[in-house]
Amino acid sequence: MPQEAREDGAAGRKVALVTGAGSGIGRAVALALVADNWTVVLAGRRPDALEETARQVGYAGIEGPAVLPVPTDVTRPEEVGALFTTIRDRFGRLDLLFNNAGAFGPPVPVEELSYDDWRAVVDVNLDGAFLCAQAAFRTMKEQDPQGGRIINNGSISAHVPRPHSIAYTATKHAMTGLTKSLSLDGRPYRIACGQIDIGNAATEMTGRMQAGILQANGRTEIEPVMDAADVARTVAHMAALPLEANVQFATVMATAMPYIGRG
Ligand SMILES: NC(=O)c1ccc[n+]([C@@H]2O[C@H](COP(=O)([O-])OP(=O)(O)OC[C@H]3O[C@@H](n4cnc5c(N)ncnc54)[C@H](OP(=O)(O)O)[C@@H]3O)[C@@H](O)[C@H]2O)c1
Repeated sequence: MPQEAREDGAAGRKVALVTGAGSGIGRAVALALVADNWTVVLAGRRPDALEETARQVGYAGIEGPAVLPVPTDVTRPEEVGALFTTIRDRFGRLDLLFNNAGAFGPPVPVEELSYDDWRAVVDVNLDGAFLCAQAAFRTMKEQDPQGGRIINNGSISAHVPRPHSIAYTATKHAMTGLTKSLSLDGRPYRIACGQIDIGNAATEMTGRMQAGILQANGRTEIEPVMDAADVARTVAHMAALPLEANVQFATVMATAMPYIGRG
């Protein structure tokens, strides 16, 4: 369907931006939000992956502009700037950012991690999340009616590490700091910020858990996973609350994964 056709009838829908919307949790959340009548801007680097999410949404059958793919690398300030210009030009406001784009990096011992690999994880998980949150914050502060919600995608790794995950663990702990600062600084402007900490949703990123992954005791074991759609339902619930209410932190994990019980 041509882009213009997706934009007809935008009035009345709330507008969400999902980063990393071309796969995994981002795609599942985009589908859940569209089902809840949101207009969803899909961001990620691969245009074909975003188009596939749009196809799965089945926007042709929905009245109004269910989705708008905007290929974006969230590590590039100019691309994030252009993304938010597009959102303001097309829809006039942003009600929700799901700050989801992320990467794990190579699972190697600390002493073997290259600086480039460290930087690549920090670039997307921390700098990219900051750039999107800052642009969303500015938009939400300035728009009328004022306010909106930011949901950051943390992780169980925002609480405890896996072996050989220093960059991922450090950046996911940092995400908790972003969440707390955004929550505090957003109070005067009706900007709510919460965080979802996920454990073992079945996506590309967790393929290793299903194949067998290194445990703290040195063994390699297969771990239980859960459906990304079960995470998406929680995000949709957090998104649906009035701005006076906020899920500050939510943990959604595969029930039997090694975490509670220290293994
Ligand atoms: N699956 C889990 O169990 C789990 C657990 C805890 C936390 N998480 C978090 O959930 C988020 C999504 O992960 P996932 O499991 O759904 O894995 P995934 O399918 O690999 O998703 C990662 C997404 O991030 C996007 N991305 C990566 N770098 C980007 C960049 N520079 N600019 C824009 N988009 C970028 C990717 O799209 P492109 O490659 O097209 O850019 C991709 O869609 C991550 O933040 C991850 O840390 C997942």
